[in-house]
Amino acid sequence: MATRAPFLNQRYGGYYHRDVPSPDEELTSVGPGTPCGEYLRRFWHPIIESEALTDLPKRVKVLGEELVVFRNGSGDVGVLELHCSHRGTSLEYGQIESTGIRCCYHGWLFGVDGAVLDTPGEPEDSTFKDRLCHGAYPVTEYKGLVFAYMGPPESQPDFPMYDIFNPAPGYCLSKPAREYWPCNWLQVKDNCMDPAHTAFLHTIEFGHGFTEAFKEFGQLDFMESPIGMIYVHTRRIGEHVWVRITDFIAPTIHQIAINTEEATAEHPPTLPWVIFWLVPADDTESFAFKLRFYPGDEPVVSGIGFAMDESRPYPERQRVPGDYEAQTSQRKIAVHGLEHLGDTDRGIIALRRMLRRNIRAVADGGSPMIVPKSVDGPVPTYASNTVVQVPVAATPEEDKRIMKETGRKVAQGMLDGVLPRSSSLS
Ligand code: FES
Ligand SMILES: [Fe+2]
Repeated sequence: MATRAPFLNQRYGGYYHRDVPSPDEELTSVGPGTPCGEYLRRFWHPIIESEALTDLPKRVKVLGEELVVFRNGSGDVGVLELHCSHRGTSLEYGQIESTGIRCCYHGWLFGVDGAVLDTPGEPEDSTFKDRLCHGAYPVTEYKGLVFAYMGPPESQPDFPMYDIFNPAPGYCLSKPAREYWPCNWLQVKDNCMDPAHTAFLHTIEFGHGFTEAFKEFGQLDFMESPIGMIYVHTRRIGEHVWVRITDFIAPTIHQIAINTEEATAEHPPTLPWVIFWLVPADDTESFAFKLRFYPGDEPVVSGIGFAMDESRPYPERQRVPGDYEAQTSQRKIAVHGLEHLGDTDRGIIALRRMLRRNIRAVADGGSPMIVPKSVDGPVPTYASNTVVQVPVAATPEEDKRIMKETGRKVAQGMLDGVLPRSSSLS
């Protein structure tokens, strides 16, 4: 584990606090052969949108590896090592054919599975191509995204089919939206178990302070789930209690429900609002792919509605910063040895602990402990809003206790499969 900076207890003491410990590599390094990189390589990850695969190959970087992605003339998608097996020319300049991609330099042709299909300059009787394979990864295309599995072939898991992939009749999933995050993957994932930030960061534009917003913030709970973990945020609205559950789905997925609720009547758990995968390009850059759930039949491009990029003018981003500013400015790789974690960070501590356990399980030669898989049908997920009628208790302390208990009960009901979702977004 990385070292910690000293606990500075001296005013004007910056001089004693200049050393920057190295990042926690076990949790943040994603390249081949690193513990976290090997852990992440036991799962399917989205790497590009299906629509991006036109007549030209696409160069991508995933988990520190340079790759080329293309759709051959027969419609099959290939994810191959970027550099040609012959003498290294980038296959981003390759010519797409019906069976594969042909290197522009001397015409070697590679199939989507890495078979070397042609080596035109070699003698007629050469067996070179029959003995050699080019690096390739298995692909699944689903809901407008191309997913790749980059781990050992013998450990390839089934592609997880989440319950929300086929929401209720009358609902569909948007086309994917993509975001670029110029920072390490973990700080973007930390955020998904950090509901407290919403009471400050997301109220800045309304001029609220944390204390003010936190008064109505309600109760927070964190629980493990069969697919990762959830947070349970319980708020009192008159005679009702609103329970909002957010999923962290191992290893990099985050699924949320809408964060508004009138809570005028009881209702069962809703559908989630958006699911997103975070994919590390390398240790300091990541991509998010988001699918949104909405009423209708036709997938359209999804505007998620947050400015998760640098498109706003800098002074405006300083005045009203959002998730993007908060997370990308924690340094390229947030340094855990400089943090001072408090009570609002319970979810982050639990998340990192869970990831570390899973990373070590793989490093010790085993499998990840949490792998979302279908047993008797789709994989259940839990992100939702539920409203329950609960009379206000006699004292604020008692009410807090009841809220937390109500949240736990709803969450447990979903985890046990006895409290199914309704077919509604709100
Ligand atoms: S470098 Fe690709 S065929 Fe020669
Ligand atoms: Fe946020």
